[in-house]
Formats: sequence, structure tokens, C-alpha cells
Amino acid sequence: MLKICMTDDIPEREARAFDTEALGTFFITQRDGQFFAYKNICPHLQVELEILENQFLDQDQEFIQCSTHGALFQVETGECISGPCLGESLTAIPIQVHSDGGIYLA
Ligand code: FES
Repeated sequence: MLKICMTDDIPEREARAFDTEALGTFFITQRDGQFFAYKNICPHLQVELEILENQFLDQDQEFIQCSTHGALFQVETGECISGPCLGESLTAIPIQVHSDGGIYLA
């Protein structure tokens, strides 16, 4: 299993981008102590979500936001709840948190 990072690397309501040969770019965010990972591709135009480094969340840090046209996605499901790709979803990446505090690709 591939270790991506430690849980401490991703503070609550923040996100971090990663790049692996197998998956390309993706990001992990933490919400209420749980970690969620998605491919860094907006379902609207298939572009990367962020313009500024690691800026995947909206101003209130409530939703994942695409920087290009402002689509909002639920953190827990990746579903678009506002914007041009309403009803579509980010592609989830299965991860597991292990007892060593590491986050691994499942
Ligand atoms: S490219 Fe993401 S909302 Fe348009």
C-alpha cells in the first residue's frame, strides 16, 4: 500500500494536493476528523480545480470549490451542489487511515 502523507499534514477544513504516477494529481481534505480524497479534475471542463496552491475549498471552508467557474462540491460525497456541473461528482479516491497516523491509498 502506498503511503501518501500523515494525518497531521492535513488540518481540519484544509486540503493538500498530491501527485502520484498511478493516479495523477489528487487532493485530500479533512472534515470532522474524517479524510476525503478526490481526483483534481473538475467534471465541468476536466481542468484542475485550484489556481492557488492547495486552495480547494471555498472562502467559508464549507465546500470544495472549482476556481474556474465556482462550482461547489460537498466534501463528504464530492457531489456538485451548485454551478455548471450540478449533479455531477468529483472522482473519489479510496484512502485508509492506519494506526500509525498515515494516510494510504486503499
Ligand atoms: S471548470 Fe470547474 S466549474 Fe467550470
